[in-house]
This record gives sequence, C-alpha cells and structure tokens, in this order.
Amino acid sequence: MKLPFAESFRIKMVETIRKSTREEREQWIKEAKYNLFNLKSDHVFIDLLTDSGTGAMSDKQWAEMMTGDESYAGARSYYKMKAAIKDILGFDYFLPTHQGRAAENVLYSTIVKAGDVLPGNSHFDTTKGHIEFRKAFAIDCTIDEAADTQLEIPFKGNMDPRKLEEVLKKYPQEKIPAVVLTITNNTAGGQPVSMKNIQEVSAVCRKYGVNLQIDAARFAENAYFIKTREEGYADKSIKEIVKEMFSYADIATMSSKKDAIVNMGGFVAFKSEELWKKCQMFCIMNEGFITYGGMSGRDMNALAQGLDEGTEFDYLKTRIKQVEYLGAKLDEYGIPYQRPAGGHAIFIDAKKVLTHVPKEEFIAQTLGVELYLEAGIRGVEIGAILADRDPVTRENRYPKLELLRLAIPRRTYTDNHMDVVAAALKNVYDRRESITHGYVITKEFPIMRHFTVELEKAR
Ligand code: F0G
Repeated sequence: MKLPFAESFRIKMVETIRKSTREEREQWIKEAKYNLFNLKSDHVFIDLLTDSGTGAMSDKQWAEMMTGDESYAGARSYYKMKAAIKDILGFDYFLPTHQGRAAENVLYSTIVKAGDVLPGNSHFDTTKGHIEFRKAFAIDCTIDEAADTQLEIPFKGNMDPRKLEEVLKKYPQEKIPAVVLTITNNTAGGQPVSMKNIQEVSAVCRKYGVNLQIDAARFAENAYFIKTREEGYADKSIKEIVKEMFSYADIATMSSKKDAIVNMGGFVAFKSEELWKKCQMFCIMNEGFITYGGMSGRDMNALAQGLDEGTEFDYLKTRIKQVEYLGAKLDEYGIPYQRPAGGHAIFIDAKKVLTHVPKEEFIAQTLGVELYLEAGIRGVEIGAILADRDPVTRENRYPKLELLRLAIPRRTYTDNHMDVVAAALKNVYDRRESITHGYVITKEFPIMRHFTVELEKAR
C-alpha cells in the first residue's frame, strides 16, 4: 500500500483556542463595527485573517533567538542575516526593516516622486498605499485571466508583458523608478508567477532601462509552484529555483513574516551598492542603524534560520498540501473560490456566493461577517473596501473580484481545523439566498481604510 502523505514536523508546544456561542459573536462583531480587524483574537476560534507573522517558529528558530547579538552596530546577527540573504536570494546588499511595508517605505522614500508610475501585478495594498501616498501611480498589469476565478491555469499571478510594455512605452524612463513583480501574487489569490514570466518581465525592464523590484513576501511558495508546475524545473531544488528567480531582479522587498516564518521582520535587498547607499539615510531615519534597521538581533537570527527552513521542499509541500486540502473540501461542497488553490490562502468568490447583496453593500465583507457569525472563523475582505477610493476622483473603486481570503498560518492549524472551516462555509453557502443585505461605511481613513473602517447594517 502506498503510504499517505503526512506533515514534515511534529508539535512541541501548543496554544489553547476557545469556541464561542453565536449570541456572543453577534455582540462582539457589532461592537467591532462589523470590521473583523477590530475583534479581539480571544473572540476568534480559527484565525485566518492573515498568514503574516502568525506562523509557528521551529525549535531551531527559537534556539537562534537565544544567541542573538544585540549590539547596536555590526552585530553578529546582522552578518548571519546578510549571509542568508546572499546564499539563498543572491543579493549582496540589504537593509533590515521591521516588516515589509517598512522596506517599501525605505525604498520608495528614496526612489519615488510625485507623478511617477510603478507598473505591477496587483500591487499589495501597502505597496499601493506607499506609491499613492507619494502622489505616484500604481498601474496594474496582471494578466486578464486572473479575474476569472473558475479558470484553472498554473500561473495565474503573472504580469502581462504586453501591458507592461505599453506603460513603459508611454512614460519616460525617469518617471518609472521600478516595476513591481509580486511573487506569489497575493491580491489575485496567492497565485504564482512562472519563471518564464519573471524572465519576460525582466527582459522588458532591461529593454527600457528600469529596475525590476520583486515583492518577495511569498517567494518560496512561488518557487514550489515553479518546481511542481513548470516544465524543466521538476528536478531542481527549491533553493536553485529561488536563486534563479532573484537573478532577474534588481531589488527585493520582503515581508519576512510570511516565507521567512518569523513573527516580525523584513528587509530590502539590492544588487546595486549605489542604491543601497542611497537608501541608508531613510533606513536610519525611519527604522534604525543600517545593521539592525527595525529588528532585534535575535529576530535577525530567527529570520536567517527561517529563510533556510522556508526554502526546504518538505516544509513547502506540507504547507501547500494543507491549502489544497481545504480547496478540495470546498470542491466537494460546490463552493466557488479562486482556482486553483493558492499558496497561502483560499479566496472565496463572494460574488458567486452572495448573489443577492449589492456591490455597494460590500459583498465579500458581508460574507466575512457571516462566516464569523457561523463558527468564529475570521477571514479578510479582498474587495471594494480594500480597493478603496480612486486617488483622483475619490469615488469608490469596485474591483472585478469580491473575494473573502482565508489565509492559513504556517505550521499552525491542523486539517481538522480546515474541516471546520469548510463545514462552516457550507452552512453559510446553504443559506446564501436568505442573505440579502450587506453593510455601509460610517467611518473611514483617507487611505488604507480597510484596517480601521467602521460599518453598520445597510438596512
Ligand atoms: N507585500 C505583500 C505581497 C504582502 O502580502 C504584504 C503583507 C506586504 C507586502 C507588506 O508586508 O505586512 O510585513 O508590512 N501582507 C499581509 C497579508 C499583511 O495579510 O497579506 P508587512
């Protein structure tokens, strides 16, 4: 008999989580103004809000925490992190930052000015926020296929090189500080970008003399998909694939809270010594001295170890199999999601579930609230609230897709938890016809409103 697949780890430490009643949840979500970010985590049973900083560190990472060097300048931990970034990603220069958006801040404070244009494949919201805050423009060049949730293609996160070239033709080189390639493409559903696409995008960047920046938050999951889906990579190790992916880039920004499996941390890495030097000032001003940036020595140690573990095939297989497992359960129940299952999350196609809720009443948000009420499961809206208003007209932007993202933390929940998530979704799905009202906004920030938005029932 063929042996079944099993996780590549065993569990050494556990944390108690608690169920609640529907009455309690009704009260709590009302107090939270129907914004899932406002809930106390103690009021959540299974927390799929994000896979960012929510994973479980390994025994080896915890051991690294004990030997961190907390020297202000030139710490051993800095050199450990430097060696890991060089060995695994291939960059000679880097600045540590407290998380991914801080890496964006350091980089864009240096290279972006008002009126600039940064094309990308569905820029993440903090990336777009940092661009638009500087009165520059994030132009989306994702392939059209990404918007069709039912289409099964292996690399649905790709950038369309033709769309990219149109943009690069239209604007002078000095207005384009970077092209941002996000691997995997979070906003499009945790969908991977193929090596071929990275090569094509890089070639277009070279042709027009502009920098290619890789948003590397989930680069290792992307490499797993290249190994398992792209011709010619099956026999390459994840580390070999990772090296090749970054060989085409000039800059990488990294939220280490994802694929480096730490609770906090990030960095911006450079091929160019000159750009690294230019960025140092903003690192010192906003993060910290260049050899610790926003990080403690112990955290830099854990990050270096996490980069190594996060690029091991067995770890990645365990991780991505769990996402696939949840996807397969949803298939069984006929619940539509962005296909195929992504690297870090399942994105439920809320428009196809709540067909009676108008878009002005925030379809994916409504589904998120329903799932919380059903079983204390917390996802996150990737829809009109996140898309925010147009920076010029200030009108609401209604994206093609209204998704409810269920992000799965690394090495944290078991497949039994996934069964509960699927069953809860099925219950909501079965009563979908009766859900006809959504929510309206009562308070919002001028930018990145989704974190703090306040809502009330629409009717
Ligand atoms: N880029 C991508 C692709 C991301 O997904 C994130 C964060 C960032 C950059 C910013 O990194 O949070 O460390 O400042 N994504 C989290 C999420 C928040 O839930 O998807 P950060």
